Amino acid sequence: MKGIILAGGSGSRLYPLTLTTNKQLLPIYDKPMIYYSLDLFLSQGIEDICLITSPQHIKDFEKISYTLKDIFSINLIVQDQPKGIAESFLLSEEFIKGNKVMLVLGDTFIHGKIPPPKNTGATIYAKKVKNPNEYGVVEFYNGKAISIEEKPESPKSHYAVPGIYFYDEMALEYAKQIKPSARGELEITDINKQYLEKDQLHTIELDNSIVWLDAGTYDSLFEASEYVRDHQSKTSNCIGLNLKKVHE
Ligand code: DAU
Repeated sequence: MKGIILAGGSGSRLYPLTLTTNKQLLPIYDKPMIYYSLDLFLSQGIEDICLITSPQHIKDFEKISYTLKDIFSINLIVQDQPKGIAESFLLSEEFIKGNKVMLVLGDTFIHGKIPPPKNTGATIYAKKVKNPNEYGVVEFYNGKAISIEEKPESPKSHYAVPGIYFYDEMALEYAKQIKPSARGELEITDINKQYLEKDQLHTIELDNSIVWLDAGTYDSLFEASEYVRDHQSKTSNCIGLNLKKVHE
């Protein structure tokens, strides 16, 4: 299985923090945000990954990928404009062709061991939240999705879809078939809908033992830093990539 991590986007919700830097390079306590999402690949034994970012930040990520060269083989790809998460499959076509893929959004902060994905189709996760309308929202039963919608005004459930996804070899074909949404993006939710239509969208609930923070707002970014500091000082266990191993 190969990995794709998305580290582009405009970062507009975090402006002016993102005026001169990429959102995924902002600190969560003692590490850049991307060190937490990259660690999700290691938990699945994936080292061969493709990192997609915007033209103005490619140099920063060259430095990151060089720094992490003993842990990951990172292929860097430029996304000219933030035309949607699902564009990542098209941009990385040569890299992923014929392979299963784990896709991670670079602003995803998850602490805890996620249950393994299913062997077929696609696997997404579902986390109960108070504000589902800010996310992709999934309705599911017995491990299978019943409906999935992107930021619906009237959500059909309280379950948000975190930015970590597993796909079989078909994801690339589906990405070629979907059209941009009203906001002009190739939506990851539209890829998931393709799997749903084929009854192939496995959905696993993340229970309370797993912490998920979408570090995309001032509050959640701050909360994530506090969480890491508290946990690391109380347990002396590192969250995210282990700095001692990376930088020794
Ligand atoms: O956080 C989980 C949510 O992420 C899901 O529940 C939604 O279904 C999914 O669409 C996504 O929603 P967001 O509105 O939070 O996505 P955002 O535009 O913030 O982008 C998420 C990450 O992907 C962020 O790290 C930037 C990166 N990105 C995004 C776009 C649209 C890119 O690298 N390129 C892009 O074109």
